[in-house]
Amino acid sequence: MDLKSTILSYDRPVPRYTSYPAAPIFQPQFSGDEVMAWGESLAPGSNLSLYLHIPFCPKLCHYCGCFTHITGRYAPVEDYVHLLKREIAQTGARLGKKRPEKNHIVRHIHFGGGSPTMLTPQDFTLLMTALREAFAIDEAAEIAVEVDPRHMNPVLAQSYAACGVNRISLGVQDFDDRVMESVNRVQPFEVVYKAVEQLRDHGITDFNLDFIYGLPYQTVRSMTRSMDYALLLKPNRFALYGYAHVPWKKKNMRLIPDDALPNNAQRYDLFVAAAELLESASYHPVGIDHFVKTADDMFTAQQGGTLRRNFQGYTNVAPDALIGFGLSAISQYPQGYAQNTTADHEYQDHILNRSNPPIAKGYRFNGQDQARKAIIDDLMCNLTADLDHIWQSHGHEAADLNALKSLLTPYLEDGLANLSESGVLTISPRARPLVRVIASSFDQYLPPLDSAQPKHSMAV
Ligand SMILES: C[S@@+](CC[C@H](N)C(=O)[O-])C[C@H]1O[C@@H](n2cnc3c(N)ncnc32)[C@H](O)[C@@H]1O
Ligand code: SF4
Repeated sequence: MDLKSTILSYDRPVPRYTSYPAAPIFQPQFSGDEVMAWGESLAPGSNLSLYLHIPFCPKLCHYCGCFTHITGRYAPVEDYVHLLKREIAQTGARLGKKRPEKNHIVRHIHFGGGSPTMLTPQDFTLLMTALREAFAIDEAAEIAVEVDPRHMNPVLAQSYAACGVNRISLGVQDFDDRVMESVNRVQPFEVVYKAVEQLRDHGITDFNLDFIYGLPYQTVRSMTRSMDYALLLKPNRFALYGYAHVPWKKKNMRLIPDDALPNNAQRYDLFVAAAELLESASYHPVGIDHFVKTADDMFTAQQGGTLRRNFQGYTNVAPDALIGFGLSAISQYPQGYAQNTTADHEYQDHILNRSNPPIAKGYRFNGQDQARKAIIDDLMCNLTADLDHIWQSHGHEAADLNALKSLLTPYLEDGLANLSESGVLTISPRARPLVRVIASSFDQYLPPLDSAQPKHSMAV
């Protein structure tokens, strides 16, 4: 079999491993008090990352897998900003500046969504002020915003710069008219070009372009033409996400006609063509879906072994805890994960009447979880993991690891990965589309292939 056929023969539904265990495993028996106790037990001087979820967009993209509400009105956004401010102050009172003996410091802030660019410059500034009042923020902190280029304007760019935003991720997806019209997102090149100019004019020069392969009507020709346009913008990074088509979970995806979607062989060709084009333009592959310039922090982090994966994808900041604010936001502590409610009324009621986080579900690490997570994280970030070392350092039995290693045999025999005598597993860069599948060998909770309803999208 050639490489492509071999890779396609292993394609299956698998988590994206932005967490391990993956979110469908989270359980409802969680209280905000327990989660705050996790926060209270962080060692003094811990590094924090903060995530703010802004679940609003003016128009629905049919491919969208994010948690968002579509609204043409600003009133619900404004109300939400007030609740978010309260949530930030409440958690800040326990873990932030008001507890100077804790001395925690924020190294990374991320505004995601939905569309954070729905926030007016005034409300964005209000939220940044609330964060600075509640937490000690490192002067060199990375402050990142997911930007919908269609919303960018000079006043917004100016307010981002004034608030210290220093990294932007722009949702591009594709530049092809037919592709973009079919997913209800008309966004010509000029719109993205202008957004980049406005940000650059205000000194925000570190930016990433999000692309998606596997969208309806995409062909290798249309995709590479779009990437050629994108290169003209000279971003530091590209994210090249595979379209995660999960119409059983996301109703909007049912608006995409099945016969317009590339099949998995075509998806493979799209990824390979786009990856080759980016590599020939001196972007280095990082993890499963990023391509970065050597001057970019993410390249340095990968080379130095400090690249990490979290709910937003890859990050070069490895915090001791990630605190999520807003509807559906997920926090991560050394003890486990906790996800805020996704129900508007519950969120509002909780924030107005209680002083702990509005947690709906979560997960407490137990058993072999942390060793398996360390292996999966290393494979997802570096395509290599020192299995023996990780397993022993977590104090687990060698026999259990041997059983897991035996699951790797097909990949080793097909030359997709190598396992050294000392127990270091290395995935071949040619097998990048299968990293999630190979990593899933270490996932104790992976649903069986024959389960009636897949929980995850396909790997390739
Ligand atoms: C929250 S959006 C970015 C900000 C803004 N809402 C926008 O769309 O421009 C985050 C990114 O997730 C990616 N995304 C959304 N739905 C996806 C899906 N079903 N499969 C793969 N990537 C997806 C897109 O690349 C999108 O830019
Ligand atoms: S892709 Fe972005 S703009 Fe489109 S619906 Fe999803 S979150 Fe909103």
